[in-house]
Amino acid sequence: MSRRRQIYEGKAKILYEGPEPGTLIQYFKDDATAFNALKKGTINGKGVINNRISEHVFTLLSHINVPTHFIRRLNMREQLVRQVEIIPIEVVVRNVAAGSISKRLGIEEGTQLPRTIIEYYYKDDALGDPLISEEHIACFGWASPEEMHDIADMAIRINDFMCGMFAGIGIRLVDFKLEFGRFWENDFARVILADEISPDGCRLWDLTTGEKLDKDRFRQDLGGEVEAYQEVARRLGLLPEGSEESDVLDLDTHRKKRGK
Ligand code: TMP
Repeated sequence: MSRRRQIYEGKAKILYEGPEPGTLIQYFKDDATAFNALKKGTINGKGVINNRISEHVFTLLSHINVPTHFIRRLNMREQLVRQVEIIPIEVVVRNVAAGSISKRLGIEEGTQLPRTIIEYYYKDDALGDPLISEEHIACFGWASPEEMHDIADMAIRINDFMCGMFAGIGIRLVDFKLEFGRFWENDFARVILADEISPDGCRLWDLTTGEKLDKDRFRQDLGGEVEAYQEVARRLGLLPEGSEESDVLDLDTHRKKRGK
């Protein structure tokens, strides 16, 4: 790992220079943060599980013609992705009230929203990722109107697809966060889905019990975060039936021992 040039380190991932120009290696850490990194911890094996879940979701999205940065998974914690220029906007899609919208507008958590809401946040840790409108995005040139049209269109398609995918495995897709990037091809930039889709950036509730199967377990000190992430992967068919988290970790340790 030390042989590679590190391009960027975020809270949950590290980006390394890829094997070919225009590619990067995205490494998934076990580190977890919340409330703009005021709360820090680790969720054992999270990186391994999120790598698999994100691979799965991005692959399915590419089948419905959502362009993504994902190329292929390389190993337990890494995937090869296209290098993009990240658009500094966090796109949040909400189907059910929870988290900041409940707090900000006093809407009881769990209320089904009459229609899906797309929100934009300016990606700036020092400012605490403030909520912004399309007016701010246009005014400060963070993305063009054409790019915002493509982003909103993709966000709705991704939401439609993921609501169905999760409903099929007994999970309610409450909300989630997306990031997009510009992919340059001969002087022409196209907006594609970047980052990851995993229980770190989604609220996933069991359809029947309402049990939280996402990072809110960590944010709210509920415990059982490893089991929750693993349950999502298991229901998606990404873990062999009856396998334990320890199996995932054993595989990861095995890989590390081989020095891969
Ligand atoms: P929020 O209710 O805290 O605004 O979060 C909405 C969704 O976005 C939720 O699924 C968690 C996700 N999210 C992130 O992935 N990263 C973040 O920094 C924040 C604030 C939320």
